Amino acid sequence: MTEADVLENKVTHVLPSLPYAENALASIISARTIGFHYGKHHKGYVVTLNKLIAGTELADLSLEKLIAETDDKADKVAIFNNAAQTWNHTFYWRSLRPQGGGEPPAALKQKIDASFGNLAACKKALATAAAAQFGSGWVWLVLDAGALKVIKSGNADTPLTKGVKPLLTIDVWEHAYYLDCQNRRADYMTGVLDKLINWGFAADNIG
Ligand code: FE2
Repeated sequence: MTEADVLENKVTHVLPSLPYAENALASIISARTIGFHYGKHHKGYVVTLNKLIAGTELADLSLEKLIAETDDKADKVAIFNNAAQTWNHTFYWRSLRPQGGGEPPAALKQKIDASFGNLAACKKALATAAAAQFGSGWVWLVLDAGALKVIKSGNADTPLTKGVKPLLTIDVWEHAYYLDCQNRRADYMTGVLDKLINWGFAADNIG
């Protein structure tokens, strides 16, 4: 996909740039993992999505509308999966940052304390949800009727269709960690939560 293709409307959806270099998260997630995850998996969802919707009535919809439109439709499963995975991955890259972790911004910290008791309990809830997710999926910090909650979703499922507001996500598909941690999903989660998680992004999403 080139910029010229986009301008000529030959494609609808574009792989967004990574918000940092591929080696910027290497203390926990190697450049090799990011290279495959972003350059092959994420890109693959975007390319497949564009192929599936080309020439259909869905071709002009925004990604969010496309996800809403195809959710729970038996004849649109492939489109939903690729659209949701495109959105989920873009949200995941922004949920991480080099030198992340640490303390959340004050307003978010206050909400975390109100909903979980303290930051450690919030991180534990995210780690527990990751461990409990059987097979591929995602863990999310969401805003639900004013309170923060941790939820998990299987495969391509996304909180966008669940009436809650996603604040950040961590990908727990094996492709997110297997080259670096093999079967040790818990080690990947600890590293992400301590050193990469972008609390500022979550705070911004509260709005
Ligand atoms: Fe992924």
